[in-house]
Amino acid sequence: MQKTVLVAGSHGGVGTALVDGFIENGYEVITISRTQMNDSEKHLRIDMSESSSIDVIRDWIAPYMSELIGIVNCAGILHDAQHKPEKNLNQVTGEWLEESMKVNVLSHLHLAQAVGTMITSQSSLKWISLSAKVGSIEDNLLGGWYSYRMTKAALNMFLKTLSIEWQRRASKSSVIAMHPGTTQSTLSEPFTRNWPKEKLYSPTITANRIITQFERMDANSSGHLYHHDGSIIPW
Ligand SMILES: NC(=O)c1ccc[n+]([C@@H]2O[C@H](COP(=O)([O-])OP(=O)(O)OC[C@H]3O[C@@H](n4cnc5c(N)ncnc54)[C@H](OP(=O)(O)O)[C@@H]3O)[C@@H](O)[C@H]2O)c1
Repeated sequence: MQKTVLVAGSHGGVGTALVDGFIENGYEVITISRTQMNDSEKHLRIDMSESSSIDVIRDWIAPYMSELIGIVNCAGILHDAQHKPEKNLNQVTGEWLEESMKVNVLSHLHLAQAVGTMITSQSSLKWISLSAKVGSIEDNLLGGWYSYRMTKAALNMFLKTLSIEWQRRASKSSVIAMHPGTTQSTLSEPFTRNWPKEKLYSPTITANRIITQFERMDANSSGHLYHHDGSIIPW
């Protein structure tokens, strides 16, 4: 049987490497991003952070559902041209918190809502959302980065709750959050100048770690936040 996976947010640093990695490992890959990557029917151009994307994604993905074994959602935002991660309380604005919520949480919620109605009791779908260690409340020893931390923590709670609902509906399904590690990309670039080289990973290394996690996960490993080394990070 064909092994099809969906990489959502396929135009980012990790997403692009993940598409290549899955193909190299013999998977069929379908993709979603805001960028028109090719004219193939296997690619959907849409912004998942908009609620209007739910129905469009549902219609597009329906023909693939019987062969779809998993989804990796890479969507996330840390900064843009006008906003850097906050160093203190005074720098936090509602506007950036809302934008961070939109990308870091709603992009994952809407995709799950699009797929969720098509899950049956026989489904064994694997779901990975790329989150971040800094979204772990227990792991927060340094402070700062308010909007990113708050919205990744919200993403983590969404995933834990989703894992419970989908396990009730489809006992073979699995839902996890994953910290990919500090990886060379547009997202990390401004913050890696003084970062130890041995802890800065190429997108290819990170993609291979995500694929390893994807292949080893099952219903028993559902409902956790995983470090890229395979260990569990407290929520
Ligand atoms: N790089 C790291 O060091 C690092 C560390 C910890 C966690 N992470 C997490 O890993 C994931 C991938 O990060 P990356 O390093 O590949 O970053 P990236 O190259 O900046 O890619 C960002 C991703 O987020 C999506 N995205 C960005 N802005 C968006 C917006 N305004 N609306 C909707 N979607 C938007 C992009 O989707 P399109 O395909 O549509 O462009 C892309 O998938 C993120 O969730 C990030 O938080 C990364």
